[in-house]
Amino acid sequence: MLIFKTIGELTDYLTVRGETDLGFVPTMGALHDGHGSLVRYSVTQHACTICSIYVNPAQFNDAKDYTAYPKTPERDLDFLKSWGCNLVLMPETTLDLSDIKPFNDFDNLNSILEAPDRPGHFEGVCKIVEYLLLSIKPIKAYFGKKDYQQIAVIRRLIEIRKLNVELIECPTCREPSGLAMSSRNRRLNAQGLILAAQIPKLILQAYSQVKQLGYTETERVIKQMCDNLNISLHYAEFRCQSNLNRVTIHTPISETIFLIACTIQGVRLIDNMTANEAIAK
Ligand code: PAF
Repeated sequence: MLIFKTIGELTDYLTVRGETDLGFVPTMGALHDGHGSLVRYSVTQHACTICSIYVNPAQFNDAKDYTAYPKTPERDLDFLKSWGCNLVLMPETTLDLSDIKPFNDFDNLNSILEAPDRPGHFEGVCKIVEYLLLSIKPIKAYFGKKDYQQIAVIRRLIEIRKLNVELIECPTCREPSGLAMSSRNRRLNAQGLILAAQIPKLILQAYSQVKQLGYTETERVIKQMCDNLNISLHYAEFRCQSNLNRVTIHTPISETIFLIACTIQGVRLIDNMTANEAIAK
């Protein structure tokens, strides 16, 4: 496994090697098994898998959240090696993204769910993702479904900017407790982890009640349960899987996704399940 500290060194290497069968897994480090499933899947699909580790300041609206983002570089490299990753991009300095034209053609995606609480977040994600995709030119790029809205945004970015890459969505990996794996979980103590394990249970609860109660009443019940648990909730909503629009009474349950965001011990956590995923649990 080779490690590159600058994008120039990586792209020079790729050009010299004439390597084109590239799978790409962009990350912000503090890697866990969720990233592992993306990398391992890419390894089965491509001659060469590249992982980037870069905590992108442009996508943090909260400076404290940026500095508190966990960093475990040595451990990350050990993991990547064990997962069969071939090349790692690990920039040591802030990347200059000024050549990338800001993306602002989000349709509804930049005014719902995560967006109002995190102004500038998706613009920052689009900047770094477009920069990396244009530089590395992978055939496929792999993203985890825990960040469902991010996937929808990047899908749109790829379409509108006509980026020549296929986006591959991979299922959310969960701890034995059901908690969705996230680098941010490291910032929770034992009590926080127990509380956070309620999040997937709340989603399952929502799906178990929705047939009887309907969308609006189920959302209200889940909000009430969060209050009772002392979980500071940002949203808990049924949305359409295809476009993330609000559901209506005519939306079949099978076409919905339930998304939730909350803060526990100062850590913002998100999770989601589609109806099919919830039924499978
Ligand atoms: O999902 C993430 O870890 C980040 O948003 C990404 C896609 C690596 C861009 O910085």
